[in-house]
Amino acid sequence: MQEQIATLRRQAEDALAAASDVTALEEFRVAVLARKGKVAELFDALRDAPTEEKPLLGKELNALRTSLQQAFDARLLSLSREPSRQVPIDLSLPGRKGFRGSTHPLTGVLNEIKAIFVSMGFGIADGPEIEDDNHNFEALNFPPDHPARDMQDTFFLSPKALLRTHTSPVQIRVMEQFKPPVRVIMPGKVYRNEAISARSYCLFHQVEGLHVDEGVTFSDLKGTLISFIKQFYGSSLKYKFRPTFFPFTEPSADIYITCFICGGKGCRLCKQGGWLEILGCGMVDPNVFRAVGYDSEKYTGYAFGMGIERIALLRYGIDDIRLFFENDVRFLNQF
Ligand code: DAH
Repeated sequence: MQEQIATLRRQAEDALAAASDVTALEEFRVAVLARKGKVAELFDALRDAPTEEKPLLGKELNALRTSLQQAFDARLLSLSREPSRQVPIDLSLPGRKGFRGSTHPLTGVLNEIKAIFVSMGFGIADGPEIEDDNHNFEALNFPPDHPARDMQDTFFLSPKALLRTHTSPVQIRVMEQFKPPVRVIMPGKVYRNEAISARSYCLFHQVEGLHVDEGVTFSDLKGTLISFIKQFYGSSLKYKFRPTFFPFTEPSADIYITCFICGGKGCRLCKQGGWLEILGCGMVDPNVFRAVGYDSEKYTGYAFGMGIERIALLRYGIDDIRLFFENDVRFLNQF
């Protein structure tokens, strides 16, 4: 038996050295090392060996198996490292195209808005989406019986916590934290308890703006917002300011632009009126300054707010707001 072991060792080592490619190596593995190979055969023969020789023979067989396996592994490694045996690289193959997503239309619109205001000296701030009544309503001068404070219109998480219904509470948080002058825009998500349809969704995005300093006037508001509108929508566009009411600004205005679909003649988009409302604005109400501890005799300021979905819907001629939130790649790929 010992002789058989020695012979197999010699033969196997010769065969390994002679194996010149991976196929020959595999043949060697099957013939020698595999479950029905020569080494296994010797292990079977061990059963018939005299009992007193078994321990020694078993040891030798184990050593043979280990050393052949190691020699096999080493040979396989060295064969696969030889450059001539590697699959050649075909430099003429066309490259693989990188797969890249596209910017979500809401992100794109928001990025443009940010860039314009940052170029005019505004900073960017954000605040929590879970708010309290004080920041979302009270400090913004909402009367106690305002309909927005109703469960019907606002998602209350508890009697004290609600999902913010607009980005205006970030104005309060910024003013609580910083002394004037402040000049920031505040983009973010807002939530309203609306019936979901093509025109309204329970979640949407706004960009809020605030500029407070000594001597800020309505002319500053107009100059800034008109400059924004011209940069964003094009300089030839017509616009108008129309008085309106917001609890947190006085006076307040809505800004309209001529409908860019019909040029003002009247169409379905502008509901035949020829004008589209694009943002709300006004001079910060002194009650708001009082709520944050600003001296309302010394400081004045303006604020504004606009909805991002509405701007993107108008710009791209999209007719269903839900598309922004469904993440259907057939929709998203178009931007
Ligand atoms: N918060 C208002 C809304 O959600 C938008 C708005 C209007 C914000 C006028 C303002 C503003 O800061 O001055 O409808």
